[in-house]
Amino acid sequence: MSAALQGKAALVTGASSGIGEATARALAAEGAAVVLAARRLDRLRAVQEELRAAGSTAHAVELDVTDERAVRDAVRSTVETLGGLDIVVNNAGLMLLGPVEGADTTDWTRMIDTNVLGLMYVTHAALPHLLRSQGTIVQISSVAGRVAARGAAAYNATKFAVNGFSEALRQEVTERGVRVVVVEPGTVETELRRHITHAPSKAAIEQRVAKIRQLQASDVAAAVCHAVTAPAHVTVNEIFIRPTDQA
Ligand SMILES: NC(=O)c1ccc[n+]([C@@H]2O[C@H](COP(=O)([O-])OP(=O)(O)OC[C@H]3O[C@@H](n4cnc5c(N)ncnc54)[C@H](OP(=O)(O)O)[C@@H]3O)[C@@H](O)[C@H]2O)c1
Repeated sequence: MSAALQGKAALVTGASSGIGEATARALAAEGAAVVLAARRLDRLRAVQEELRAAGSTAHAVELDVTDERAVRDAVRSTVETLGGLDIVVNNAGLMLLGPVEGADTTDWTRMIDTNVLGLMYVTHAALPHLLRSQGTIVQISSVAGRVAARGAAAYNATKFAVNGFSEALRQEVTERGVRVVVVEPGTVETELRRHITHAPSKAAIEQRVAKIRQLQASDVAAAVCHAVTAPAHVTVNEIFIRPTDQA
């Protein structure tokens, strides 16, 4: 086990699958103690057990990031369990693609509640601890936070919001030693697309990605590790990472 993050305490949201799970594994492999948070406790527990078997400190916590009180409780219990908080990876998210015309607006509500408000609640609850530890907060945004595309308006709106919120936050806290990192992946092979409710959009994206070599969740996790293991005086503010085959 490498020791770049030995003694560091990390909280990863959306750690039950995909990028969050891979990031929790990567941080643990670098020596961090990790709290894995998401709604599917069974999946978190399976990862927790694997990490513990490999000698890491890992704790699974059931959390719906749209519930502000639950977020505050999860952050508090993370700090109590791990003795502090040095790294937060705000990763929990949904991508419910579809055109604006005729959209099921409950898709919009779910995405805004999770991708935007959930991330803001976690940031708000974690910030006093990160200021104390001079820690790092990693916001998992998306290419969709920089480039808008038809059929993705509401998802674009949430990820543009993440980028705006995070840049303003950066200006507020960087001189007090807190690093704000925004990671913007292109297509990653995860469960994310499975949840799309608009059938034509789901079929179209499945068709598009079948033709390319997608990023793997571990590729994004490696990018997160690169940022959090940089020397304290270096902030990797933004990582824009796409599959080579994605035009
Ligand atoms: N895959 C891509 O192509 C891609 C590209 C760019 C950015 N991203 C971003 O990467 C992040 C992770 O997505 P992924 O691709 O790894 O997809 P994923 O495998 O579907 O993971 C999403 C994670 O978010 C969690 N989650 C969803 N709603 C939640 C809630 N209300 N409270 C707590 N956790 C919640 C899910 O866990 P539970 O269901 O167990 O709660 C799951 O662990 C998202 O923010 C996504 O927008 C993905």
